[in-house]
Amino acid sequence: MAKRISLTRYLVEQQRVAGHIPSELRLLLEVVARACKSISQAVNKGALGGVLGSADSENVQGEMQKKLDIIANEVLIEANEWGGHLAAMASEEMEGIYVVPNRYPKGEYLLLFDPLDGSSNIDVNVSIGTIFSVLKMPEDDRGVDEGDFLQPGSHQVAAGYCVYGPQTTLVLTVGDGVAMFTLDREQGSFVLTQENVRIPEDTKEFAINMSNMRHWDEPVKRYIDECLQGKEGPRGKDFNMRWIASMVADVHRIMTRGGIFMYPWDKREPNKPGKLRLMYEANPMGWLIEQAGGAATNGKQRILDIQPTQLHERVSVILGSKNEVDRVTSYHSTL
Ligand code: AHG
Ligand code: MN
Ligand code: MN
Repeated sequence: MAKRISLTRYLVEQQRVAGHIPSELRLLLEVVARACKSISQAVNKGALGGVLGSADSENVQGEMQKKLDIIANEVLIEANEWGGHLAAMASEEMEGIYVVPNRYPKGEYLLLFDPLDGSSNIDVNVSIGTIFSVLKMPEDDRGVDEGDFLQPGSHQVAAGYCVYGPQTTLVLTVGDGVAMFTLDREQGSFVLTQENVRIPEDTKEFAINMSNMRHWDEPVKRYIDECLQGKEGPRGKDFNMRWIASMVADVHRIMTRGGIFMYPWDKREPNKPGKLRLMYEANPMGWLIEQAGGAATNGKQRILDIQPTQLHERVSVILGSKNEVDRVTSYHSTL
């Protein structure tokens, strides 16, 4: 029987053999994975666990919260606050940062998360997920504040997501490529099921919410229009479309077989740079995609080079197979 490598063993090897991560970061990632396991259990129970439906509250971004948005947020906080690895956390569902309470020791890391991505899919039994990003506290910092979180994505020391679908899969990078782990429910542990994930550079599959077409900017219109012309058009090949409306599931498909995902700026709310959040969605996904050989931009620059100015900042997102992302990005500079 093939040797099974658990997440714990993978992380120990990343620490000991490859020297990629310090033990504190390893332990922190174990805790995040444990929290994802527990969120996965809540998701699986569905109506039986009373976790479906709206929470009748709004988050700081003016979005209606689902019960699972709040449950997942609490699970992540409770799991991570006492371990001693973190100084503070930030979440899509909380207005300000969550500083580790004084009764616990403080560590040197900052954890950011979108506790439940794909909220509109919770009640309809479609894949959803958790996205997370880890930063280090700036050196010589005396007390933690929001400003400490405002680091570009290129400073991340770990990033990942867990997709709760037909299988629960944790996808992780610590800067040494991308590894995938599948949750073995009988054993209760994540098992390595793919290493060195590579995204094909070319693709015939795009993911975008087509209902927003009339609001898009010219470069995005041009790209999709050329895809839609298929074999007879300038691309000379037929394209397929997929839109799950959970970024985590759309990105997971791209990680598995390639493709391009876009949630671009559009004219509905011209002052909003995009729908997705830089710190909780675009940065972790952008780094994972790059680590698998893909690319991630906002049309004008690499996502990971953006200097954030606000915790809940939004951004236009184009990511996936490298040649396609390069093409859409180049349309932004020529039009
Ligand atoms: P969240 O559930 O964390 O608010 O994120 C939802 C996001 C993202 O997952 C997805 O790609 C997008 O919203 C879907 O938006 P539309 O409903 O506009 O298609
Ligand atoms: Mn999200
Ligand atoms: Mn969310």
